[in-house]
Amino acid sequence: MILVTGGTGLVGAHLLYHLLKNDEKVRAIYRSKDKIESVKKVFSYYTDDVTLIDKIDWFKADITEVPAMIPAFVGVKKVYHCAAFISFNPKDYIEMRKINIHGTAIIVNLSIDAKIDKLCFVGSIASVGESINGQLITEENEWNKELDNSGYSITKFGAEMEVWRASQEGVEVVIVNPGVILGSGFWQSGSGKLFSQVYNGFKYFTEGITGFVGVKDVVKTMILLTDSTIKNQRFILVSENKTYKDVLFAIADGFGKKRPFKKIKPWQTTILWRSSSLVAKISGVQPLLSKYSARSAHSVSKYSSQKIKEALNYQFEKVDTVIKDVCKNYSK
Ligand SMILES: NC(=O)c1ccc[n+]([C@@H]2O[C@H](COP(=O)([O-])OP(=O)(O)OC[C@H]3O[C@@H](n4cnc5c(N)ncnc54)[C@H](OP(=O)(O)O)[C@@H]3O)[C@@H](O)[C@H]2O)c1
Repeated sequence: MILVTGGTGLVGAHLLYHLLKNDEKVRAIYRSKDKIESVKKVFSYYTDDVTLIDKIDWFKADITEVPAMIPAFVGVKKVYHCAAFISFNPKDYIEMRKINIHGTAIIVNLSIDAKIDKLCFVGSIASVGESINGQLITEENEWNKELDNSGYSITKFGAEMEVWRASQEGVEVVIVNPGVILGSGFWQSGSGKLFSQVYNGFKYFTEGITGFVGVKDVVKTMILLTDSTIKNQRFILVSENKTYKDVLFAIADGFGKKRPFKKIKPWQTTILWRSSSLVAKISGVQPLLSKYSARSAHSVSKYSSQKIKEALNYQFEKVDTVIKDVCKNYSK
């Protein structure tokens, strides 16, 4: 039996489809039933036969609650840990520590107790270090705790440390560190928002650069790594390093909509995040932009995926091809 956490999120939902397609027996953690509908929607992008979803052994639990999680591990041999709380709002830091670090510690402890064969953890490029002398960032670039890191980055690093602990305590692990994941479904959260905002006439762009990857490549490489003899290693998953401008333009083109046309300069995003965090403090609403998302919109970080390409002899789908496919599904 395979256990998937975060099955009702972007990565988890696509992963569930690919595991079931391979005839695997799968148990998936969920917190609320309505989220299962989003998984059904994701399945509908792949197949007309969404009854495949009925093969999932849905298990209601919060990963931060040990007593609820213990029975989820009965008969489990492999675990894909995709659940996490993604936020750049400083207000969410404590909750992110609880879900991302403490929750992962629980998954690790239960994996050790259950003597599972392998744990696959979805990390992030947020827990990989910065470039040295402008070179491409690899798995060897160490995350630096002395920098002004976002809460998300701190908690993803902390989670990864818990997973390395599992490897010390007899559980084989593989860690993937994807860039920004582009995929169909979940249009109102994460990178899905890029698509819904451009569809609705988003005007702005920046020229920051980061790594992008399609969700199908993320889940396919996760399965290949977990089913391989590779163990106790981490792999950056990035198809291409691109400017936000290029990605937003490709999304607009994919929808046949007007491209964003207002270039935002760093000082403008600084004013925006400062004023929106002030408004958020006074009114209690979510800030439009945080210091860290403003910073990442302009920063230039380029990643190498050489390690995974060589380990699995794998080729990633081009980002423009992924975007065209996602735009097609959005319009469905
Ligand atoms: N999206 C990206 O661009 C990106 C890039 C790099 C790395 N990642 C990493 O990829 C992984 C998956 O991300 P995603 O994009 O799929 O995120 P997502 O769409 O926000 O999904 C998060 C999943 O985690 C679940 N979850 C959160 N807290 C939980 C808790 N306390 N107990 C049980 N389940 C909980 C959510 O359940 P509910 O449905 O109940 O909320 C949901 O299924 C994360 O580890 C993230 O850090 C994502």
